[in-house]
Amino acid sequence: MRLPERQLAVLEAASATDERRIDELAATTGLKPETVTGAAFDLRDEGLLVVSETTSEHAELTDEGRRYVADGLPETRLYRAALDAGAGDGPVPMGQVIGAADLAGHEVDVALANFPRKGFGAIDSGELSVDADADPEADPEATALAALAADNDADDADDPTDIDVLDRLASRGLVDLVERTTRAVTLTDAGVDALMEGVEAAETVGQVTPELLASGEWRDAEFTEYNVEADAPEVNGGRKHVLRGTADRVKDVLVGMGFQEMAGPHADSDFWINDCLFMPQDHPARTHWDRFALDVPPMADIPEALLERVEAAHREGVGPDGDGYHSPWSEEFAREIALRGHTTSLSMRYLSGYAGAELEPPQRYFSVEKVYRNDTLDPTHLLEFYQIEGWVMAEDLSVRDLMGTFEEFYRQFGITDIRFKPHYNPYTEPSFELFGEHPETGEEIEIGNSGVFREEVTKPLGVDCDVMAWGLALERLAMLTTGAEDIRDLHGTLADIDFLRNAEVSY
Ligand code: PHE
Repeated sequence: MRLPERQLAVLEAASATDERRIDELAATTGLKPETVTGAAFDLRDEGLLVVSETTSEHAELTDEGRRYVADGLPETRLYRAALDAGAGDGPVPMGQVIGAADLAGHEVDVALANFPRKGFGAIDSGELSVDADADPEADPEATALAALAADNDADDADDPTDIDVLDRLASRGLVDLVERTTRAVTLTDAGVDALMEGVEAAETVGQVTPELLASGEWRDAEFTEYNVEADAPEVNGGRKHVLRGTADRVKDVLVGMGFQEMAGPHADSDFWINDCLFMPQDHPARTHWDRFALDVPPMADIPEALLERVEAAHREGVGPDGDGYHSPWSEEFAREIALRGHTTSLSMRYLSGYAGAELEPPQRYFSVEKVYRNDTLDPTHLLEFYQIEGWVMAEDLSVRDLMGTFEEFYRQFGITDIRFKPHYNPYTEPSFELFGEHPETGEEIEIGNSGVFREEVTKPLGVDCDVMAWGLALERLAMLTTGAEDIRDLHGTLADIDFLRNAEVSY
């Protein structure tokens, strides 16, 4: 039998009784590990070798991790500097210790977050005190980092460290947990027989070189066959994020349906976020529990006439049968600034005419923008997410128009089974929630909220015809189209990188 040289070398280095790993074979044969792998697969295809694969998780230091191995963890440096500054005897000013610890930029935050967590001491009103009994030498995170630095060169070292500590280091960005595939080979009976019968090296050429061409040697050379099935290293390029892709698709669809795009501030006055929507000022969604209030000066430029009409709607209601809320209404509250909890603030700005929209019916507007809510994180809730806001202004709109619009919109994403549930909003009547079925779990998930604006909303804005409107969740749409089951796979620090690399956005 004749085999290319590299295959022969690997065959001779393999054993019938012991598994030999690729790196061992590379060391014995003097070939590159990739070459050994290629040869091993070719020999396997010839039936001369068995190739086994095991995958294991392996921790590698990041640049930041490596820096802390050299300089010490920021919290440990803070601890030492605090001790030196006399914090063992009583609290010392934080600024002074940070300066002495020589912590720069991001390291200050890292130190301040981890110092109390590890029980090194406490931070209170700008002062630092230390627990003199704390022992940074024995800190498992520091020990694990040092151990990883020591055996990073020895590829085969099993990670000695507790998986919780590794997870923590990974979440701090100090190590990357990577999956590794280790391959090993053993001779088959056919392989042993071939070696016993004698195998000759066939000189083969892997690549045409200028020398081969110039000398004409290529004419007689035997070329190595391509193995198009061999594993190649995966290359991941940059790519548009799934959510951004979905948002772009949504914009295309809505523009195709005749909508124009709205834009406006993320931080806005309560007036635009809530008061215009006839949301009573004592509504639970307007308390500090649900809203991210900002400690900035109130909004000065709210159109005076509109402010008066909105206040009157709250106090007295609208129209001859109007009644109002009989609850307190304060202009001061209306001018306060918060992060918008919905993008209906943009709809109010546009419908009022102050954002420059044309208001001769029919009109259609949309936005795909971020909103902020003080919710509890769970698989379907984030503190910030994207809303697909929209409204249609026309004479005599009905619920059928609303349902038809959604059916047409979702159909563009292949979703044809949306369901409607009657709902209550302070600003729409009637109101509907929308549900879609999750393709993986089969669960009905809420995908949006909608309705026809009440007169108490439209009249003060100066709008005389009907306006139907909605807020749909972009992340939920992405969950339906990609099959993601947890919103946190889509964005945020826990996002699933493989999913982001591979998920398809349908166009
Ligand atoms: N603002 C609503 C929400 O955030 C959505 C909505 C907008 C409902 C407009 C009706 C009309 O859930």
